Amino acid sequence: MTSRCLLALAIILFTPALHAQNMADHTYTSATIATGSRVYLQRCALCHGPDGGWVEDINLARGKFKSVVTDKDLIEIIHRGAGDGRMPAFNLTEEEMEGIVAFIRTGFDPDGEAVIIGNMQRGKQVFNGKGECSSCHRVQGIGPRSAPDLSDIAFKRTPAMLQRTLTRPASSLMPINRPIEIETAGGEVIRGRRLNEDTYTVQIIDGNERLLTFEKASLRRFEVSTTPTHTPTTLPEDDVADLLGFLLSLRGNAQ
Ligand code: HEC
Ligand code: HEC
Repeated sequence: MTSRCLLALAIILFTPALHAQNMADHTYTSATIATGSRVYLQRCALCHGPDGGWVEDINLARGKFKSVVTDKDLIEIIHRGAGDGRMPAFNLTEEEMEGIVAFIRTGFDPDGEAVIIGNMQRGKQVFNGKGECSSCHRVQGIGPRSAPDLSDIAFKRTPAMLQRTLTRPASSLMPINRPIEIETAGGEVIRGRRLNEDTYTVQIIDGNERLLTFEKASLRRFEVSTTPTHTPTTLPEDDVADLLGFLLSLRGNAQ
């Protein structure tokens, strides 16, 4: 760790005013996440399991809850208990509580990558506005189909994975999301996104939202790209944090 990081950490840990602000802004440091990991293993893992998925309909690592939406809800549940006493109330220190929230919000990420989760409403504005995300992504029935539908992305990816999609896309590209390029027997070159693939056929959606199915054997060329569509975002850190807040609120149409 460089001395600058250490200094930043020291300021976060020892300055009360900044510390409070830190909690409000959901800036998680590796030290906080490490505290959370320890508390989790001691107090929560018994019921929720090491991967957070043991209690029915809940997956703490993937942010799948019953009633919890905000960090405030999360803190309240831990203080009060849940399920008519099936989950006991916990009396945690502020530091332990901050740690456990960080640990859950970073998706139990062993790397302890610091994730900043901002304001959901502002994130929605960035998504539809200057971020231009809605020009490619569909959310709750609105928007194009050429990029992955993000309507329930909060259930599918951890906060750390979502942050990486924006800041370091090359390290987070999911195999099914890899862009593909094909050349038909007639010489037409089509770029698009894979929806399904089996041994003999591949179904893709192209930039004009055409749904196309091809026999692989009939294709002249079939290339799966390893270059992500996203380039590392140039949006300021605050906007990225707000976008994360918005993405984590996307839990499907049912909720
Ligand atoms: C004795 C078992 C037990 C322990 C220990 C336990 N939980 Fe739970 N937890 C449950 C059960 C059961 C539920 C589901 C309650 C319900 O059905 O509403 C639950 C629900 C939750 C929820 C989801 C609440 C909602 O409505 O969205 C969260 C978040 C949670 N637990 C976090 C924790 C954390 C963090 C710890 C450790 C500090 C912990 N739990 C310890 C059993 C436990
Ligand atoms: C030019 C179209 C385009 C724009 C603009 C765009 N995306 Fe994407 N996005 C994609 C494509 C295509 C993928 C699939 C992976 C790839 O090709 O890199 C993707 C992947 C993602 C994923 C990962 C989905 C998964 O399944 O893990 C997230 C999250 C995401 N984008 C969010 C955003 C946000 C937030 C913005 C705005 C800042 C944005 N995207 C702007 C096209 C776009």
